[in-house]
Amino acid sequence: FTFTEANLAWAEGQISKYPEGRQASAIIPLLWRAQEQEGWLTRPAIEHVADMLGMAYIRALEVASFYFMFQLQPVGSVAHIQICGTTSCMICGAEDLMAVCQDKIAAKPHTLSDDGRFSWEEVECLGSCANAPMAQIGKDYYEDLTAERFAEMLDELAAGKVPVPGPQNGRYAAEPLSGLT
Ligand code: FES
Repeated sequence: FTFTEANLAWAEGQISKYPEGRQASAIIPLLWRAQEQEGWLTRPAIEHVADMLGMAYIRALEVASFYFMFQLQPVGSVAHIQICGTTSCMICGAEDLMAVCQDKIAAKPHTLSDDGRFSWEEVECLGSCANAPMAQIGKDYYEDLTAERFAEMLDELAAGKVPVPGPQNGRYAAEPLSGLT
């Protein structure tokens, strides 16, 4: 793995924001850019970022493995779906959403669908507890879900249509941020 020329220039700009000896502070933006470039964080990508920052690989891996925003396995080419499984969402039906993923994507999380277009995982609270249950797809939140609406959304994504983010019970709608269109 190496950054593209444009990403390398961007990464060096990020590193230069920090005082000498504090380059490791740039780890999150660099890991994020590496993930955007590759789709997920491969070991060579994490090693490359660690080398750029003068860090041991294990220190960079500790950061990459701590946050749900970083993917350490390949993700679906169309969408990676993160279902909140914490208390509010679990009480309000997260298990039903996960059952939809098991049915439509793959029986186990972090497994690509047969066509490689989708993947899913359970994550901890995403801070949208008042609109439970919810899922994050790309950079967008989909809230107030039912299993029926969620299954419909996956069908829409499979057909190349990006569902409108926000609560799915008609309370509010926003423009997609994910760039999935
Ligand atoms: Fe699901 Fe907080 S419990 S968003």
